[in-house]
Amino acid sequence: MAPLSTASRVLARSAARAAQQTSATPVNTTARLAAVTSSSFSTSVVRPEGSAATFKSPFRGASKTETAPDFGHYLSKNKGNSNALFGYFMVGALGAMSAAGAKSTIQEFLVNMSASADVLAMAKVEVDLSTIPEGKNVIIKWRGKPVFIRHRTEGEIAEANTVNVQSLRDPQSDDDRVQKPEWLVMLGVCTHLGCVPIGEAGDFGGWFCPCHGSHYDISGRIRKGPAPLNLEIPAYEFPEDEKLVIG
Ligand code: FES
Repeated sequence: MAPLSTASRVLARSAARAAQQTSATPVNTTARLAAVTSSSFSTSVVRPEGSAATFKSPFRGASKTETAPDFGHYLSKNKGNSNALFGYFMVGALGAMSAAGAKSTIQEFLVNMSASADVLAMAKVEVDLSTIPEGKNVIIKWRGKPVFIRHRTEGEIAEANTVNVQSLRDPQSDDDRVQKPEWLVMLGVCTHLGCVPIGEAGDFGGWFCPCHGSHYDISGRIRKGPAPLNLEIPAYEFPEDEKLVIG
């Protein structure tokens, strides 16, 4: 028989010791379960009689959490009224500053949105009528549109008044189109598609639109062609005899 190795002898000795312990102390499973259930798994914790209800810190060293810290150092030394007055002052001051900022912002916005000075200046146009001789046209620009100013002669005024108004496409008497018979003021925009008619042209001695062939008479009324309406009369006035203000 071959001799056993050292490892084999150790294993054999351990097995023999385990068999000896098993036979000496049989396992009592029921008893061990009862012990565990009655001690470790109990869900009703009962504080022992006379024990202190203080929190013990789980950390090492002197525990500082057993007593609440003193925050008295941070409390105000003043009385309640003075604290309230300071609060009211701060609320009022901040409210006034906010209102001033809001006013400034809104004011800036409104100023930027309103019409600029040059636009306001163009809202009205003043014309010196003494520079326009009789029988001549002048074209000025008003709000981006041409305005015709005609210094009419006596013959032109008479011609404008001899027309049978009811025969016109857009019936309107000459008196309804002028404030002073010698001054005819109207927008130089064709009522068909917006071209600028040519003065002293056309079949009726007034204005002619070359775009599609509309003819206007000496009162600016449509007489022939596709335009549906007479030339428009803008708002104007004569603040003085020789002065015209359009707009
Ligand atoms: S735009 Fe003047 S006739 Fe058409």
